[in-house]
Amino acid sequence: MVARVSTVAFQGIEGVPVEVQVMVAPGKMGIQIVGLPDKAVAESRERVQAALHASGLSLPAKRVTVNLAPADLPKEGSHFDLPIALGLMAALGAIPADALSEYVVVGELNLDGTIAAIAGALPAAIGANATGKGLICPAESGSEAAWAGSEVNILAPRSLISLANHFRGTQILSRPEPSIRPNAANLPDLAEIKGQESAKRALEVAAAGGHNLLMVGPPGSGKSMLASRLPSILPPLSAAELLEVSMIQSIAGQLSGGKLSDRRPFRTPHHSATMAALIGGGLRARPGEASLAHHGVLFLDEFPEFAPQVLDALRQPLESGECVIARANHRVSYPARIQLIAAMNPCRCGMAGEPGHTCARGPRCMTDYQARISGPLMDRIDIRIDVPAVSASDLIRPSAAEASADVALRVARARAIQRERYASAGAAGISTNAGCSTSMIEKFAEADAAGLQLLRDAADKMKFSARGYHRVLKVARTLADLDGKEIVGRIHLAEAISYRVAGERLPAAA
Ligand SMILES: Nc1ncnc2c1ncn2[C@@H]1O[C@H](COP(=O)(O)OP(=O)(O)O)[C@@H](O)[C@H]1O
Ligand SMILES: [Mg+2]
Repeated sequence: MVARVSTVAFQGIEGVPVEVQVMVAPGKMGIQIVGLPDKAVAESRERVQAALHASGLSLPAKRVTVNLAPADLPKEGSHFDLPIALGLMAALGAIPADALSEYVVVGELNLDGTIAAIAGALPAAIGANATGKGLICPAESGSEAAWAGSEVNILAPRSLISLANHFRGTQILSRPEPSIRPNAANLPDLAEIKGQESAKRALEVAAAGGHNLLMVGPPGSGKSMLASRLPSILPPLSAAELLEVSMIQSIAGQLSGGKLSDRRPFRTPHHSATMAALIGGGLRARPGEASLAHHGVLFLDEFPEFAPQVLDALRQPLESGECVIARANHRVSYPARIQLIAAMNPCRCGMAGEPGHTCARGPRCMTDYQARISGPLMDRIDIRIDVPAVSASDLIRPSAAEASADVALRVARARAIQRERYASAGAAGISTNAGCSTSMIEKFAEADAAGLQLLRDAADKMKFSARGYHRVLKVARTLADLDGKEIVGRIHLAEAISYRVAGERLPAAA
């Protein structure tokens, strides 16, 4: 007899259905696993054998064949232990075979028969729900899986024995509850930053429209400080976004304690990050920092210190909102709708352009440093600002600075306007000006006559790329939204253009 158990293989953040077929037949004693298993799956043979033994079930002196169907889909990870063990238990009559037909099963086994947490319980539960089934997963992953919906039947046993008892009816398992991580209240606050009013304004605009931002300034001017205040002014994730973000964290094994948080991701990879760390991939496909920052912020401090190829690999996700990783025999994609915030010194010594400073390496110090950022990547940055060193008078006797909570209110209001606009235009999934399509922004950011004239002159003089032109429109739309204006005015366009020009001037000055 062949016992069948449903499970999933992860492709990107999707759980693709996989059937584990277990047959016990006369022959040489042992377990054979077929169906494109990777090393972790092949090793599950040893774990399953030991766990069954520890649970008081010894294998018969027969040949056990385990097939993971479809055979041509690569199976990665250790979550196949539990479905294989349950299939074997069903084949041996230790649990009723039909008990498993209503469930998708994922879980890793310890040698003592307990079930260990796995990555990806949430997407597995969502995948199971889509096929009308429930989910059997490790106890620790239960609260995460419960987010898939209250109608999904979830069993989260601690061990093989407690699951067997549940099926026998001697000890019924209760459904795990979804839990939310309380947000740590003390985020760093904008009020701690003295002076830097124009940089704070740019940060607010970037937060309001989801725009990419580059800050250029000498060391110690407060660039890292400004960026780390961004989470305190961003609105919380919506319910749909929360689920998407959590699916990625779940696949990456980064949902601590199975608890979800509605705070926008803020990822700060070090500049030594490799391509696999930033974009995703590696031996076992995993989402990279860009995907972990989905619906949130990817902050690249010391921007030019990143390897140029790694930076350029960001160009595609910045445009399409997903990271595509080509593997030897298949292709994986992870969502990566990110807001890029970057900070850099103007040159290697950091002092270029400072009054009274002369660099021994002259203008080359600056050109060489800035050339590490390619033109196409620069083109994707909507707002570029200079962050000059904070003046002594600002430091010593600062004027009262606005708190993050007040800025967050304005950001939330502008975001609400955007959400409403794109929802009523039938553009599901678009929630910010930065994320909207070019045809849409042309329609929604229609400027008045004076604004049009200014835009035409600026585009001519500054030779905007088509992308640059649309990005200026998007920033102008955000500025008008912050202002609560329907029509994009000349003043909004002028500010949007000034943000673009700051960067164009950089290479020109060098
Ligand atoms: N505008 C500012 N207001 C208050 N402190 C500041 C300001 N700018 C810089 N600092 C101080 O300088 C330190 C270094 O700032 P940082 O953001 O790391 O500089 P950067 O990243 O531009 O090199 C901060 O920890 C803070 O103590
Ligand atoms: Mg810094």
